[in-house]
Amino acid sequence: MPNAKQIITDPPADCSLCERLVAYRRDNEAAYPEYFNAPAPSFGPAKAALLIVGLAPGVHGANRTGRPFTGDYAGDLLYATLNKYGFANDRFRADPKDGLKLFGAMVTNAVRCVPPQNKPVGAEIRACRPFLINQIDALKQLKAIVCLGRIAHDSTLAALGLKAKDAPFGHGAVHPVPSRKITLFDSYHCSRYNTNTRRLTPEMFESVFASVRDAVDKG
Ligand code: URA
Repeated sequence: MPNAKQIITDPPADCSLCERLVAYRRDNEAAYPEYFNAPAPSFGPAKAALLIVGLAPGVHGANRTGRPFTGDYAGDLLYATLNKYGFANDRFRADPKDGLKLFGAMVTNAVRCVPPQNKPVGAEIRACRPFLINQIDALKQLKAIVCLGRIAHDSTLAALGLKAKDAPFGHGAVHPVPSRKITLFDSYHCSRYNTNTRRLTPEMFESVFASVRDAVDKG
């Protein structure tokens, strides 16, 4: 008998909430039958003190491999930085069988299905939000959330019941949320575009995670 109190943190593989994303999934199943082609579940231990919220799977990244930030460029900087600050081992090889382990950290996405052109629409972000709410609620030791980019930031604020004006997005912004005993940290998204244009440098990204490490260690 299913546990009525079980919190559903990941959409089912055949999630049908978003018509456009289901149609795109069908297209990808036809074009790339060997791909994962399903909502990418969160990755990391249930006792995580840190939650990292990305945008959505890349078509040849998490949509291919089934693990967030795995298989496209964005994961290279993310997992190297998590390793540098003690949140991951050094096994990341962009393959779910690489032996990567996260320590006290979990990685998820605001939208779990791959959207066309990497751009989810508002209705899709809202439809996927209950999974983000449940993911946050399920992490009983949560102390910090890192939002990668504005969409992750806005969806996380809404998930926490906060108003956009109380916590404006900005790279390096830090927003304490005393009612939840957590702190939100903002970063530009670690996409290839942002790093190629130097909108986000590895140093800028590391400086966010250095602050996150302090916050998690101080409790
Ligand atoms: N891969 C993900 O899983 N999420 C992103 O936001 C980008 C790439």
